[in-house]
Amino acid sequence: MCGIVGYIGSNNAVPILIEGLRRLEYRGYDSAGIAFYEDGNMVLKKTVGKLSNLESILREREYESHLGIGHTRWATHGRPTEVNSHPHCDCYGKLMVVHNGIIENYSLLKKVLISEGHIFRSQTDTEVIAHLIERYLNNGNLSEAVRRALCEVEGTYAIAVISSSNPDTIVAARKGSPLIIGRGDKEYIVASDVPAILNITKDAIFVNDNELVVIREDGTQITDLKSGGSREEKIYQIPWDPELAEKGGYAHFMLKEILEQPQAVRNTFSGRINLNKDKIHWEDLDFTVEELRKISRIYIVSCGTSWHASLVGKSMIEAFAKVPVEVDLASEFRYRMPLIDDNTLTIGITQSGETADTLGAIRKAKEEGSKILIICNVVGSTATREADGVIYTHAGPEIGVASTKAFTSQLVALYLFAGYLGRAKELISYSAFSRIMTELASIPKKIESILEKEEEIKRLADLFWEKRDYFFLGRGIVYPIALEGALKLKEISYLHAEGYAGGEMKHGPIALVDKDMVVVALVPHNSVYEKMLGNIEEVKARDANVIAIADEECEEIIEKVDHVFCVPKTSDFLSPILFAIPLQLFAYHIARNRGCDIDQPRNLAKSVTVE
Ligand code: M6R
Repeated sequence: MCGIVGYIGSNNAVPILIEGLRRLEYRGYDSAGIAFYEDGNMVLKKTVGKLSNLESILREREYESHLGIGHTRWATHGRPTEVNSHPHCDCYGKLMVVHNGIIENYSLLKKVLISEGHIFRSQTDTEVIAHLIERYLNNGNLSEAVRRALCEVEGTYAIAVISSSNPDTIVAARKGSPLIIGRGDKEYIVASDVPAILNITKDAIFVNDNELVVIREDGTQITDLKSGGSREEKIYQIPWDPELAEKGGYAHFMLKEILEQPQAVRNTFSGRINLNKDKIHWEDLDFTVEELRKISRIYIVSCGTSWHASLVGKSMIEAFAKVPVEVDLASEFRYRMPLIDDNTLTIGITQSGETADTLGAIRKAKEEGSKILIICNVVGSTATREADGVIYTHAGPEIGVASTKAFTSQLVALYLFAGYLGRAKELISYSAFSRIMTELASIPKKIESILEKEEEIKRLADLFWEKRDYFFLGRGIVYPIALEGALKLKEISYLHAEGYAGGEMKHGPIALVDKDMVVVALVPHNSVYEKMLGNIEEVKARDANVIAIADEECEEIIEKVDHVFCVPKTSDFLSPILFAIPLQLFAYHIARNRGCDIDQPRNLAKSVTVE
């Protein structure tokens, strides 16, 4: 939520800041702004709405600068107006601050600063940071002033600060919100997320909580915010090419990312597990077989789409490894009393690795003594650095706010882990494990065959896009996919969509079913197939429009429903991957017909870094 960027180096900072913001715009798009130092003057340009509005303003003339900061906003404190847009400044417009996070004690600090004569312009929490730094900047030492200011604030922040008193320096700091530094050749870019640095460099330094960084053209210095002690800087190599974070001719990132799924899921499982002779070894898993054997209880914590993947993961792990699994919404887990002992493993699932609720949940589990495994897509993100072990999904950057390829890659990672855990516990034979892997290897081709039928889904979307109410029904292993189908539709097209377990309809929701309701029923040929057919009868008897997603085009289904879309057959535990894909395309085409802003839906942000 909110993206910050800063640049220092010999190139023109202005286009670099704009490009960085473009790559961070998924984090918020209520307003955008930049501040930069030009010919001895501080220039501030900001405006409401998307980045394109700011770009129009900047077209008034060529700007040339070697130092600047920028911000794209997801409003929390103060409406999305120009005056509330970042950067925010001190009383004299000489010091500029961009901020991602929330300053919880801002009201109190603001009162004190006003009584000292500071003049506030905005309703934001961020502005207090600028005035606090101003208060301490009297001897001209910017980094010390930032340090002293931050000692007074409570809450979360990633900030970048520039001041005309130190025109060769950016000072950045972090507590609770992500912050990375890209190191180029005598140039540095500081940003909230990896895609923003990729045009300059793939060398990244991840800033930890409670650290302050002084960035100059010739180097950086990271120190502890409180003690001032410095630490060694570890450079991570980001494995993504800059083009991966580009739309590449597609109308939307979401469509591009849906279509990338065959490769994304292949990348999740390829080269990971060594199946030599009768030995099975996971090349990059940080847990030994002995450690895995000891696990007797698993919690999975996550939010949104990652939570839906977790629900599928529970069924996989319980079936393959016979370990009881509890799945918790991360925001709930943080505030309850989980039963954790030495043999508990907590798995955090997060595309970004920066979701505040998920970070809070894994920290709580760790405090209680649990080992932590993170399934994550972003190398070096906060969650991965705090874990005992990491399974990277390797799906490539996901920019569209609606998660697609990250979700199916999470399912693959969970399937691999469940099988491997079962094997480690000697509950799965070598040949059974080989069969699991062989079936998995066939999934990318099966996804391709679904994507080839995109036109069929588009036709369904053309038929139904004007309807306002949708139920997604599933049972067993595809019940979480019903939840996911509903979430995809509601978040990008703002329609009423709910996911239900087929058997739950009769306990209440069926009261809503009439001729205006669209029901999308997921009907794999598995042990609950007949039950699901019964649930279809129930909604059909109440005149619903029924679309079935099935894995066999049999008469039985065709005669019961209005439309059938077929996905290839696979094993029960892999079927969620294939059933998710038509639902992603359905949501996409409905939103497109409705003229919605698909990659940047209202009120949402890709990475939710506030509680
Ligand atoms: O980065 P994370 O996986 O932790 O994000 C969790 C949710 O915020 C995310 O999945 C959200 O629900 C997506 N917008 C859904 O498409």
